[in-house]
Amino acid sequence: MDHFDYRDGVLHAEDVPLPRLAEEFGTPCYVYSKATLARHFRAYTEALGSHPHLICYAVKANSNLAVLNLLARLGAGFDIVSVGELERVLVAGGDPAKVVFSGVAKEENELERALSVGIKCFNVESRAELERLEAVARGMDKVAPVSLRVNPDVDAGTHPYISTGLKDNKFGIPVDEAREVYRQAAAMEHVRVVGLDCHIGSQLTDTAPFLDALDRLLVLLERLAEDGIAIEHLDLGGGLGVTYRDERPPEPFDYATALLERLSRWPGSERLTLLFEPGRSIAANAGVLLTRVEFLKPGETRNFAIVDAAMNDLIRPSLYQAWQAILPVDTTPAREAGTYDVVGPVCETGDFLGKDRELAIAAGDLLAVRSAGAYGFVMASNYNSRPRPPEVMVDGDRSHLVRRRERLEELWAGEATLPDESVETP
Ligand code: LLP
Repeated sequence: MDHFDYRDGVLHAEDVPLPRLAEEFGTPCYVYSKATLARHFRAYTEALGSHPHLICYAVKANSNLAVLNLLARLGAGFDIVSVGELERVLVAGGDPAKVVFSGVAKEENELERALSVGIKCFNVESRAELERLEAVARGMDKVAPVSLRVNPDVDAGTHPYISTGLKDNKFGIPVDEAREVYRQAAAMEHVRVVGLDCHIGSQLTDTAPFLDALDRLLVLLERLAEDGIAIEHLDLGGGLGVTYRDERPPEPFDYATALLERLSRWPGSERLTLLFEPGRSIAANAGVLLTRVEFLKPGETRNFAIVDAAMNDLIRPSLYQAWQAILPVDTTPAREAGTYDVVGPVCETGDFLGKDRELAIAAGDLLAVRSAGAYGFVMASNYNSRPRPPEVMVDGDRSHLVRRRERLEELWAGEATLPDESVETP
């Protein structure tokens, strides 16, 4: 459930009509709903009830400080993949003791910073990385808390670019090798084994692959216990899908209940803290990208609605052929319906937000691209020297600018021209 609804024919974010935001902040513009973010986060905590747990929001999905700060205030931990994300979490008031650090190649300076602020756990993805972490911790005379990210070799049944739990993927340590790497970790002086981790992919619409992965982890857990290696937490990663179109992914409640049921068959599992790293299921349907139709361009074979947002603002349709709903913001004026490819001004044929959409629109109208709260702004670029759009967070009947529109001068800030003498003039 989200808080983007039509009232008297006009799309609102909570109690704020979207045309008002377009007027105030211009277009294109990302709009987030605070109540939706909070609701999606609480769906996880409520589903897990009294079972010890920590929800570590995946910062990569939407790293705006206001989003992080809101979730931190609701008690969230964070899953980070770079020192940049770590600094964002700290600036936003997140607790480093609730941070887990994922990613296949954490650099030494990133490990150092994370060790010095005292994060909860490093999700280690290879033997080489374990050795690097132990060396860095030794140099700082610290002990690094670790989980190994195990690749359980299950097919998440999702888009190949966002499937991560198969043997062929670059992620994690193969489940058959994990026991050996755990032994190595347990013998290290500057590493302390605390957890077991996996993340099998993103936009999963079925619980079965999660349960398969859990089964494999539990078998490993038993082997580790035989080796005298005690695990305090089980991190099942993120990956729960959302409805973009007609997908029916499990709700966090059903997902968590199924996992808890499976877990309860294992003696002692009630003491095992469960960690989740959800990103999309918290943020995606808590945001829209607001854009204005510049021109309608009818053609012989296709009709184009050229809008002021483009692939640089929202790349998912171009990159993954992802389908996201595109809705007229104000349905009250009478318009002729047509079928349009909704495209941006960027000079690429691959620059589209949606294809073959039935829309009753005219030039100047506002459109909302739904489900844009996750992997939207964070993947935006300056391609075609386009400043990135602002981000606005709605809270009831109020709206807050949580990132202003990028300025033109910022596009080349940090660049330099060559000194005069190094350029021969004809
Ligand atoms: N944990 C780890 C280790 C991850 O790699 C990811 C996402 C997550 C958690 C969060 O997964 P989520 O709950 O959001 O599915 N840009 C793509 C999605 C890439 C996901 C990468 N990893 C998209 O727009 O669909």
